[in-house]
Amino acid sequence: MSLTVNGTVREATVPARRLLSDCLRHELGLTGTHVGCEHGVCGCCTVLLDGEPVRSCLTFAVTVDGREITTVEGLAGPGGELSPVQRAFTECHALQCGFCTPGFLCTVTALLRDNPAPTEDEVLEGISGNLCRCTGYQNIVKAVHRAAELTAEAEGGAA
Ligand code: FES
Ligand code: FES
Repeated sequence: MSLTVNGTVREATVPARRLLSDCLRHELGLTGTHVGCEHGVCGCCTVLLDGEPVRSCLTFAVTVDGREITTVEGLAGPGGELSPVQRAFTECHALQCGFCTPGFLCTVTALLRDNPAPTEDEVLEGISGNLCRCTGYQNIVKAVHRAAELTAEAEGGAA
């Protein structure tokens, strides 16, 4: 199979039952994507498939042949500068063990792309599919709002 991961075409030979999460981690060496529950509950394994968040632990790798994937490794800018979402999570101390963080970063990136200024309820709804057992969510919610501000500032500066 061949897929575009973080802007680069990658090829892999995988068994038909290989999960996308395992393919990313083991065949492609992208260990930023984490696996928690392995059955679609925790959201740790979330990556963007053609821009939309998906559970990579529920996705067979062969089904994304020819598609475009963004993993947490692909969120930073070309020079390695952190994305607004990554900066906000850092600023707001929105992570502890960091196991859930790659999934949150991908989910929130898509959330803010679709809704650049979410309300509190929209943030809670938007991250409701991602579980974190360390932070109590308060700083994660703060980080989503901060990321919205940083994105707006960046876009204002670019305009
Ligand atoms: S590891 Fe995929 S949802 Fe938990
Ligand atoms: S920071 Fe530990 S599970 Fe979220």
